[in-house]
Amino acid sequence: MSFDLGLQNTRALVTGGTKGTGAAIVDALANAGAQVIATARSIPADARKGVHFIAADVATSEGCAAVADGVLAAFGGVDIIVHVVGGSSAPGGGFAALNDEIWLRELNLNLMPAVRLDRALLPGMIAQGSGVIVHVTSIQRALPLPEATTAYAAAKAALSTYSKSLSKEVSPKGIRVVRVAPGWIETDAAVALAERLAEQARTDYDGGKKIIMDALGGIPLGRPAKPSEVADLIGFIVSPRAGAITGTEFVIDGGTIPTV
Ligand SMILES: NC(=O)c1ccc[n+]([C@@H]2O[C@H](COP(=O)([O-])OP(=O)(O)OC[C@H]3O[C@@H](n4cnc5c(N)ncnc54)[C@H](OP(=O)(O)O)[C@@H]3O)[C@@H](O)[C@H]2O)c1
Repeated sequence: MSFDLGLQNTRALVTGGTKGTGAAIVDALANAGAQVIATARSIPADARKGVHFIAADVATSEGCAAVADGVLAAFGGVDIIVHVVGGSSAPGGGFAALNDEIWLRELNLNLMPAVRLDRALLPGMIAQGSGVIVHVTSIQRALPLPEATTAYAAAKAALSTYSKSLSKEVSPKGIRVVRVAPGWIETDAAVALAERLAEQARTDYDGGKKIIMDALGGIPLGRPAKPSEVADLIGFIVSPRAGAITGTEFVIDGGTIPTV
């Protein structure tokens, strides 16, 4: 059996594609032969050659329009969209610390880029009768953590519901829509956080990691996922090998979600 993913010469857009999980997904798709466009607010000096980067703030409608225009200008259309951009910068302190401005910021980063970019690029996919869209959500859509990420978790839940509804609408037109819900991923930012926590608690890196895992209620596997492991899952999902998969969610969390 061959494991060729059959992605040669497909056209793929990856948002949030310069760091962490998004950078790993860009690498995985480019290594599999896809033509990749990646977006972020700034393009690193050591950005991968052969990948087309567009600098834009996709938390704004103008930024999303610039990305959609750039994709159409460079490729004339797109076969794969992986919505990776997301995250939270909300302060701790529970519900009372979340004012309107913070709520809107979390929604504008975690929900609206997907809504806006899909709206701009789906008509082309529908016209060609094919395409795959992956929405990267989070296990927090089902397992919210109230200290600082209530708005983030709610935005990811909205993204999940939006994704499911979209899949019902466009799967009959040949477009697959799939959610990927990661648990903790050991990105560079996560490593930095674990190191900070370790320093505060006067422990080592493994101790810092344990503090994060304990906050999640534990990870039965005993470790976070690697960005490349999330990228491998998404590489499969967007490939023709996953041609029967749409309207569903893949959880990659080392067993963190405690229920069936
Ligand atoms: N890391 C985790 O443990 C974890 C767990 C569950 C779910 N997730 C989800 O997985 C996805 C990736 O997370 P990550 O931790 O790998 O990301 P990350 O390392 O924080 O990287 C975020 C990427 O998005 C870009 N970006 C951020 N804000 C942007 C904006 N306003 N406009 C355009 N680009 C922007 C960043 O580049 P610039 O800064 O240059 O813009 C960067 O390329 C997110 O949706 C996150 O919610 C992550």
